[in-house]
Amino acid sequence: MVASNSHFLVYIEVIILLSYFSLPGLNLLGLASPVVRGNDIDRQALLHFKSKIIGDQLKVMESWNSSIHFCHWHGVTCGRRHQRVTKLELEYLKLTGSLSPYIGNLSFLREFSLAGNNFYNQIPREIDRLRRLEILILTNNSISGEIPSNLSGCFKLTEVEIEGNQLTGEIPTFLGLLSNLKYLSFAYNSLRGSIPPSLGNLSSLETLALTRNSLSGIIPEALKQLTDLSYFSIDDNAISGTVPVAMFNLSNIIIFSIGGNKIQGTLPSDLAITMPYVNFFSVRENQISGKIPVSISNASNLNILQFEGNRLDGDVPSLEKLDKLFAILLDANHLGHGGEGDLHFLCTLVNNTC
Ligand SMILES: *[C@@H]1O[C@H](CO)[C@@H](O)[C@H](O)[C@H]1NC(C)=O
Ligand SMILES: *[C@@H]1O[C@H](CO)[C@@H](O)[C@H](O)[C@H]1NC(C)=O
Ligand SMILES: *[C@@H]1O[C@H](CO)[C@@H](O)[C@H](O)[C@H]1NC(C)=O
Ligand SMILES: *[C@@H]1O[C@H](CO)[C@@H](O)[C@H](O)[C@H]1NC(C)=O
Ligand SMILES: *[C@@H]1O[C@H](CO)[C@@H](O)[C@H](O)[C@H]1NC(C)=O
Ligand SMILES: *[C@@H]1O[C@H](CO)[C@@H](O)[C@H](O)[C@H]1NC(C)=O
Ligand SMILES: *[C@@H]1O[C@H](CO)[C@@H](O)[C@H](O)[C@H]1NC(C)=O
Repeated sequence: MVASNSHFLVYIEVIILLSYFSLPGLNLLGLASPVVRGNDIDRQALLHFKSKIIGDQLKVMESWNSSIHFCHWHGVTCGRRHQRVTKLELEYLKLTGSLSPYIGNLSFLREFSLAGNNFYNQIPREIDRLRRLEILILTNNSISGEIPSNLSGCFKLTEVEIEGNQLTGEIPTFLGLLSNLKYLSFAYNSLRGSIPPSLGNLSSLETLALTRNSLSGIIPEALKQLTDLSYFSIDDNAISGTVPVAMFNLSNIIIFSIGGNKIQGTLPSDLAITMPYVNFFSVRENQISGKIPVSISNASNLNILQFEGNRLDGDVPSLEKLDKLFAILLDANHLGHGGEGDLHFLCTLVNNTC
């Protein structure tokens, strides 16, 4: 009785699968086998992923049909030996839909990129089952909800790019455990709370992009440990406190952008800005007082220097070594003394020709 019941259930399931996916080529022999083969799991996961896509004006998902093996479907790459999905890349294809929890079954997935579509709703928490995932790119979609706490299961992640979505909630502390991370971007979302000090433990981190959220709190001292950091942007949040001076010692920095916050304090006059490669340096629109540190004149790769909208005073240092500089913004401060020498720094910009 039990046996015939379960046969009955299998039969129903097959009917449902056939009508749901209208797959005439469904492998009935495969289903009859007691062990579900890995690549069947992958194919089912992909079909569930497809079933949640409700808008496909470029008709790219039509190639996901039973007349070709799923390893040849648009955007799908499989490993050669096992025919398991290792990459799923569907970028800038005008796809609309939500993310099926079945993606958690693609257990060989290394790269998952859906940048520039219109995927909405939350990131399914089943994502933690992707133990081999290295690259997760969901940039420029309409993903909402919080950063799934389950992401900590994906300990191989090197790149997490979820900028340009509608993420809410806080940046979870556990991200500091993803020790392989090189690239972390949640810019242009609606995250609040503070930057967790645990991020200072990401010793391979090269990019930390948190521009335009609603973050508050301070810049954690622990970030000075990120010696590989080359891109640091936290601009247009509500971050306060002072900049840990050791941050100015991050010698691999190329972009340093902390404008549009509530950062206070002075930049110590003997501050050694040891950023030989920096080409964009912005502290615009904060509440920084005191003088512009003379050591900025040593950052010879600078292209853009933004100090405007602070409470800086005193002289602008000589800028003669900055021969790559093409924009310097200083307005809305208290610079100079109302005297003749105030604009001397301009002469240093044009080979001391004054
Ligand atoms: C299945 O995909 C192939 C390859 O993209 C395509 O040529 C064919 O028209 C598709 N079949 C259907 C029924 O959409
Ligand atoms: C795949 O994922 C779904 C949803 O997370 C789950 O219900 C199902 O049991 C998983 N396993 C297989 C083998 O499809
Ligand atoms: C995301 O969208 C913004 C605004 O449209 C655009 O500037 C940016 O280049 C896009 N990023 C990616 C990776 O597509
Ligand atoms: C993912 O979430 C589930 C349910 O909340 C939990 O049981 C599981 O331990 C979590 N996994 C990780 C890696 O945090
Ligand atoms: C950083 O990692 C160390 C050990 O690896 C741990 O003891 C410490 O709590 C971590 N710091 C933060 C801020 O998470
Ligand atoms: C910056 O680096 C120099 C040289 O490594 C070191 O002497 C100095 O103490 C550092 N400054 C800070 C604030 O960490
Ligand atoms: C500029 O760099 C040189 C060479 O490293 C150093 O001797 C000098 O003190 C620096 N100047 C400032 C103002 O930091």
